[in-house]
Amino acid sequence: MKEEKCLKILKELALLGAIEKEISVTSHQLSELINSSQQSASRYLIEMERAGYLERKLGVKKQRVKITEKGRKVLEKEYFDYKKIFSKKKEMVLKGVVTSGLGEGKYYTCINGYVRQFVEKLGFRPAPGTLNVRILNEYTDRFRELENIEGIEIRGFSTEDRSFGGAKCFFVKIKGLDAAAIIPSRSHHSDILEIIAPYKLREKLNLKDGDTIEIKVILRKGEYEK
Ligand code: CDP
Repeated sequence: MKEEKCLKILKELALLGAIEKEISVTSHQLSELINSSQQSASRYLIEMERAGYLERKLGVKKQRVKITEKGRKVLEKEYFDYKKIFSKKKEMVLKGVVTSGLGEGKYYTCINGYVRQFVEKLGFRPAPGTLNVRILNEYTDRFRELENIEGIEIRGFSTEDRSFGGAKCFFVKIKGLDAAAIIPSRSHHSDILEIIAPYKLREKLNLKDGDTIEIKVILRKGEYEK
């Protein structure tokens, strides 16, 4: 008996409730469910009982069938495979080129109202500045999707002099190092991704302008689907 047949029968019986309880089924009923002759269906049930996938109690016309633990495990394995196939990704890979900005990052990452939130929500005090990464063309669509994905919220606030906008952060990994991407709420549709980290990434990773790096963005709740 072919493995697919066995799987198909287990699935059909399970849909009739045969994992939780004994169900009544005729070989005719089963033959229709699995698209085979009644004789074959009857033979499959015997083989599957022998192989330990089912328990059967024979009646006059009907038989009572229950899926055994061994049978349930076969279905469960299949279920986990499908889960893997259809589950949403938990990370987004981006690629970009290290660039220099206008030195603004140093200013913003030292403002108290932001620093306090980084410490509380990201768990680290960022080294001054942001590492600017110009996202490669092939990855900009994906990068834009981040705008619609919930991240770690950094609230905007006001001081006596001015107001500071909100942003959201995502934890990222760059060459195995932990860091965070920061995306301003009032996004200006730039292709620059800014990264903060508790250390100078350029020093730790020996990066210079023009280097291409891969950034793994860790997504919460697996919201990203691709
Ligand atoms: O805007 P700009 O690239 O000029 O610099 P910045 O944001 O003021 O940051 C100062 C320098 O530190 C830049 O060269 C950044 O790329 C770098 N940096 C880093 O290597 N690692 C960090 N965690 C933050 C900034």
